Amino acid sequence: MKPVASPFFFPFLLQFSLVILHFSVGDSSGPSYGEALSKSIMFFEGQRSGFLPNDQRMNWRGNSALGDGSADNVDLTGGYYDAGDNVKFGFPMAFTTTMLAWSVIEFGEMMPPAELRNALVAIRWATDYLLKTVAQPERIYVQVGDPIKDHNCWERPEDMDTDRTVYKVDAPNPASDVAGETAAALAAASMAFRSSDPAYSQTLLTTATRVFDFADTYRGAYSDNTDVRNGACPFYCDYDGYQDELLWGAAWLRRASGNENYLSYIQNNAKPLGADDNINEFGWDNKHAGLNVLVSKEVLEGNVYSLELYKASAESFMCTLMPNASTHIEYSPGGLIFRPGGSNLQHSTAITFLMLVYAKYLEQSSTSVNCGDVSVGSAYLRGLAKRQVDYILGENPMGMSYMVGYGTRYPQRIHHRGSSLPSVWNHPKPIQCKEGTVYFNSSNPNPNVLIGAVVGGPEEDDKYDDERADSRKSEPTTYINAPFVGVLAYFTANRS
Ligand SMILES: *[C@@H]1O[C@H](CO)[C@@H](O)[C@H](O)[C@H]1NC(C)=O
Ligand SMILES: *[C@@H]1O[C@H](CO)[C@@H](O)[C@H](O)[C@H]1NC(C)=O
Repeated sequence: MKPVASPFFFPFLLQFSLVILHFSVGDSSGPSYGEALSKSIMFFEGQRSGFLPNDQRMNWRGNSALGDGSADNVDLTGGYYDAGDNVKFGFPMAFTTTMLAWSVIEFGEMMPPAELRNALVAIRWATDYLLKTVAQPERIYVQVGDPIKDHNCWERPEDMDTDRTVYKVDAPNPASDVAGETAAALAAASMAFRSSDPAYSQTLLTTATRVFDFADTYRGAYSDNTDVRNGACPFYCDYDGYQDELLWGAAWLRRASGNENYLSYIQNNAKPLGADDNINEFGWDNKHAGLNVLVSKEVLEGNVYSLELYKASAESFMCTLMPNASTHIEYSPGGLIFRPGGSNLQHSTAITFLMLVYAKYLEQSSTSVNCGDVSVGSAYLRGLAKRQVDYILGENPMGMSYMVGYGTRYPQRIHHRGSSLPSVWNHPKPIQCKEGTVYFNSSNPNPNVLIGAVVGGPEEDDKYDDERADSRKSEPTTYINAPFVGVLAYFTANRS
């Protein structure tokens, strides 16, 4: 189960002995990264939509949304609910998939073999769905579920009876953002599966190529489409433009295929598509910092020199992470990366992932970043990354872990329908839309532990109230966890 994509190659025995060693020191010196890694992957089972397999470990869940797609006579079952609701939003689901795959590509070799297998299962649950969304040429299904009706109810996914509206974009209408991100996800996943399932890997890559053509040929944002806007906005509207997803999709296709056409694309379009805009952002809507880090690998390897713009932007971003730099990103007093807007831990986990990836590329090329008079190397970036991880796992002013089911104190009242309502196995009778409100209002802990879910977390004051109604803080999302999988894999194998 070794992805050949990673140039880092740990012999099996060495990897095994590292794990043992770290187990023995793990108890006395800080977080148990291996346990957190395992749980971070298990979380995705709690978000599953569709028909659940026999080996489902998050066993309070049941089958749900088995008719998805029937409104348009297609099969759109499967995939993930994005957060604490029961809607399948294609844009963040594709980004989640890209980040899970990137986690495996860079750090899969550092995962215990069983967790690498679990991570691949988590990716495949998404890619099997994404393949369904692009099964028809020149069309992409971008969402299933009416979000207004869904959000108006507090219902278990297994009981869900709100409209499963199907949202799609047909050429010549554009969906460069969702299609570009889907191409990125499929291309990245093709690398993750290359050694364990070459046929599936090939299907993913071939499909990614076709989906990227759709994204690039018809340029524009999916949420400019009136039918789609009513479903996607304001939740996962494309606020930030579709240009970054075109570069991101092409960059992943370049990496996955080695094809020179994609290299030319990211060279020729760097300026026109704004590779150096908003370079300090990275998340489901804005790909810039991730794009710059991804492409920098080629420059650092010394192969290609006309990609300097990307590397310069990546370095500039890394310099802003130094807490004592003249212009730096915001940290809370307790040391957490903070950005306004809610669901803050998505920024911490995604940026921490980029620090570790860039540190790896710097180490492989024996180089460092010049930030004014200061030289920032891989060890420094890893130190910053460790601070974020340790904060999330409990070394913070509240003294609590922000990963559900990890540590002695963790969020008990997360904003999550399935977790907060009784399990279908304990309470088989359906709980209708408004019947769920009593559970939503309750101050009791959630009955079902959504193991591994990382919540939105505290804001700039480091405070966390553990209130179900405060979704900005208490709601988990798939794109908080996805990059964290790679981060935890790194620290499972390397404690610094
Ligand atoms: C910031 O702190 C680091 C680590 O202590 C140090 O190496 C660096 O020189 C400092 N940078 C600035 C700009 O003061
Ligand atoms: C839930 O809480 C809201 C706001 O406090 C209140 O108006 C409503 O009556 C409560 N509903 C139930 C079913 O407890």
